Amino acid sequence: MDVAVIGAGITGVTTAYLLKKAGYTVALVERGACGGFDSANTTAHLTYVTDTRLSQLVSKLGKVVAQSVWTGGAAAIDQIEAIVRAEKIECEFRRVPGYLHCSPKQNVKKEAAALEQESQLANELGFPAVFSKSVPFFGRPGVELPDQAKFHPIKYLGALLKKIPGHGSHVFDHTDAGEITAKPLAVKVGKEKIRCSYLVLATHNPLMGNTGTVAAALFQTKLFLYTSYAVGALVPRGSIPEACYWDTQEPYHYLRVDQRRNHDYVIFGGEDHKTGQVKDTGRNYDRLEKTLLSLMPEAEVDRRWSGQVIETPDGIPFIGETADRQFVATGFGGNGMTFGTLGAMMSVDAFLKRQNPWAKLFDVHRKHAIVGTGKYLRENRDYPVYMVKNWLHKAERTTLASLKRNEGKVIKYEGHKVAAFRNAHGTISVHSAICTHLQCIVEWNQAEKTWDCPCHGSRFAATGEVLSGPAEEPLAPLKASDK
Ligand code: FES
Repeated sequence: MDVAVIGAGITGVTTAYLLKKAGYTVALVERGACGGFDSANTTAHLTYVTDTRLSQLVSKLGKVVAQSVWTGGAAAIDQIEAIVRAEKIECEFRRVPGYLHCSPKQNVKKEAAALEQESQLANELGFPAVFSKSVPFFGRPGVELPDQAKFHPIKYLGALLKKIPGHGSHVFDHTDAGEITAKPLAVKVGKEKIRCSYLVLATHNPLMGNTGTVAAALFQTKLFLYTSYAVGALVPRGSIPEACYWDTQEPYHYLRVDQRRNHDYVIFGGEDHKTGQVKDTGRNYDRLEKTLLSLMPEAEVDRRWSGQVIETPDGIPFIGETADRQFVATGFGGNGMTFGTLGAMMSVDAFLKRQNPWAKLFDVHRKHAIVGTGKYLRENRDYPVYMVKNWLHKAERTTLASLKRNEGKVIKYEGHKVAAFRNAHGTISVHSAICTHLQCIVEWNQAEKTWDCPCHGSRFAATGEVLSGPAEEPLAPLKASDK
């Protein structure tokens, strides 16, 4: 096998597709359903406008770097468009403008000046941008950036996935990738081993391959996992121009508008927080819905979901080799679809030993990612703080019998802190509440029915299986005699 790709979200699927197209054999391995989880939960804004404002990128990293980051996003959108055209994929890909606008909670005068500067800076770096005192619908100052895009990620990935199997290439879904060995390079899949010339780890929060435990732990300190919420709603046709919108609040709200036959559909997101650090996550949805209704009183909310985004100390992703012939792409922030695609393009270049214009910029070993960034220190306080806090915190003294249906609790049971859950049918499952990454105590997320770790953001299903890393092992099930 030429390349093994672990993880079948946007990065993994695009990598496998591009390699197959180029005539190489590839094995794509996915723990769950291909194209599921975070790639399925995205709101699929295709934009080169980064979470970190252009002016901040310039002040932190300089004009050349900032320009290169945005150019990378633009190249990824072009790549997606080229694939959609070449393969004639019906995935609702459409070029639309993006609007970065002042939120109703910000000081208009101050923000207007900052946004005008942002617009001038974008123009100076070669990106078309127009400042407006009143952007469509919101009527607030903002910047219009033409030529962003949107699409339906599941339809897009579904079409790409069909192109991968055959002529020596394979897709293995619902398959856990286990141990990775360096000599020979191979990944364990069930009882089998896939030997390969190159390995791409496209698991959102990366498995660390053969970089060693210390290196893996250090790399993890540079990744900060946040949960972001979204609601979908029907709105009357023509309520708001079809576009992508982002406000300037911290954390920011994002809005995507799709025009449809009988009505329009909006997806409104925000209310981000570090994974595992909010007790009542249902309130994040409630606040989001309330904000949407204040903007569009006629909206009929029919869907709610959440996804995870990974931030980095300097606001740009980590894409490159962590060890010989082992490639990782992560830390995409709110630009998962664009940086994920760019990561795929870069992994193909790395495998083929071709020069890539972004290789140095997104180098996973770059020093400036952490040097001088207060964010790095702030974010990493969580591990010791939550480790001590949650171990000292008394688990609820209650009985398993008191658990309601579809409810989970960390409770003290026979001297142990256990993660206990009663499903909709009344069956109780009990697991160790100790996160299998670095031993913090998990928290119950009632809105999503998951166990979330406040230290580095691992998430587990109510029944203990890993949903997203850095943890790679499920919560330990406790036998009946242990309960
Ligand atoms: Fe690191 Fe749980 S201890 S994610």
